[in-house]
Amino acid sequence: MPLNIQIAEKTTASIDAIAIPISSDGLKNKKLKDIGIDVKHLKALGFTGKSGEAQVVSRIQKGKQQLVIAVGIGEKAKVNPEALHTAGETLARAAKNFKSVASHLLDIIPAKDRPKALQAHVEGLFSGSYVYSDFKSKQDAPELQRVLIIGTKNAANNKALKAGKDISAAIAFARDLINEPGGSLTPQKFATRAQAFSKRAGLRVKVMNRAAIEKAKMGGLLGVSRGSTQHPRFVEIKYSPTGKAQGFLSLVGKGVTFDSGGLSIKPANYMMTMKSDMSGAAAVVAAIYAIAKLRLPIKVTAYVPLTDNMLGGDATRPGDVLTAHNKKTIEVLNTDAEGRLILADALSIASKEKPDAILDLATLTGACVVALGEDVAGLMGNNKDWIGQITKSSNETSEKVWELPLVEEYKTQLDSSIADLKNIGSNYAGSITAGLFLQEFVDEKIPWAHLDIAGPAFKETGASVGGTGFGVKLIVDLAANFKKPKSDKK
Ligand code: BES
Ligand code: ZN
Ligand code: ZN
Repeated sequence: MPLNIQIAEKTTASIDAIAIPISSDGLKNKKLKDIGIDVKHLKALGFTGKSGEAQVVSRIQKGKQQLVIAVGIGEKAKVNPEALHTAGETLARAAKNFKSVASHLLDIIPAKDRPKALQAHVEGLFSGSYVYSDFKSKQDAPELQRVLIIGTKNAANNKALKAGKDISAAIAFARDLINEPGGSLTPQKFATRAQAFSKRAGLRVKVMNRAAIEKAKMGGLLGVSRGSTQHPRFVEIKYSPTGKAQGFLSLVGKGVTFDSGGLSIKPANYMMTMKSDMSGAAAVVAAIYAIAKLRLPIKVTAYVPLTDNMLGGDATRPGDVLTAHNKKTIEVLNTDAEGRLILADALSIASKEKPDAILDLATLTGACVVALGEDVAGLMGNNKDWIGQITKSSNETSEKVWELPLVEEYKTQLDSSIADLKNIGSNYAGSITAGLFLQEFVDEKIPWAHLDIAGPAFKETGASVGGTGFGVKLIVDLAANFKKPKSDKK
């Protein structure tokens, strides 16, 4: 049952519970007593008002008993719109056994921040009620069907509500794709899903099959796909705004539907989550959908190379040489460094269209998870202004990134004795050598950035286990605030 969220000026009688925000310093507040909340009881239950806490209690209002969900919001002075995202997630989880809830959480936000906080709250509510149950014989979906957010029905709030819904639908789409097992979500099936979803937003989609990919000479994609019985696909999705465009942005996403490592096979432990190796692809398909739904004034094209990385009888062998779309030759010394091979083709194709900027998203290296952990994506690129815009969108959306340097001196690590370059560097700085490899396939005049999302794309444990949809919000914010990047002064 999809969650229905509306703005309402006041609570209706048919609602199961009301949610109120309580800050960690607000627990001493006598106002709570005035609205019938038993602070002693809340404290005895262990509630402290910290962000991420929720507790169901009851109060008597006008002689009637009413259930109240106390939602922790952290220190009052530090409450920002983003706090309402966490509060939304927490509330949705705490309310999973209720059918309908009225949220008074916007009350704690200063009036000028309310539309932004409303959008974050909506996204949090959808995120917290997300479940992936396609492979469960018994559905364990939450009961929660309806949330009334108590607030003013003005144009800014209505717009924020719609944006929150569109972005949440995009994120749920990405999470579904990431969570689907590799044997189920083949490259062909991914392409069909992406096509159907894009059409819902009125986008133009081109799906290339193996013959078309061969004709286009995508040697990287074909080389990775060679060990699989599943055929590769290459998907291009285009969005043009109706009015004047602020610029032209190209997105590229790594779409490895399962990464076994190929002949350079992964150890069992490292292979268990490799259905998520198409998270970059899922994020860019989801993002261009949301961009179109929000009618952002920018031209966007998404390029998605799709394959799995298997080890069939004719798989690419370590030592084989592939020729990428831009004619550069690559000696494949490790078939597990496959993401960069398919991105090589996609980035050269994207470059030919001369966009104002390119951003690629890829679960590219384990080294990035070692360096930055599970919450932070590695950011690399060839243009300061473009890196700055991405960092700004990261701050706005709380999808964390950290810049890593594309160290010139490390480029020689990619020298090959028989081809133009090899696909692996030394044992150190694996995320950076991967970034330097990608750079070889981008037109140097085009501002380009690469987000290594190997860490934040997928959570192995916790309440939001599985695909996260990381990157969707960041890309949408980036597109909404896009300015053609200034070239770096030499
Ligand atoms: N898909 C993996 C990277 C990855 C690791 C993503 C962990 C998410 C979590 C990628 O294709 C890969 O295997 N990279 C190798 C590169 C190496 C062979 C140079 C790696 O990181 O070990
Ligand atoms: Zn790999
Ligand atoms: Zn991979």
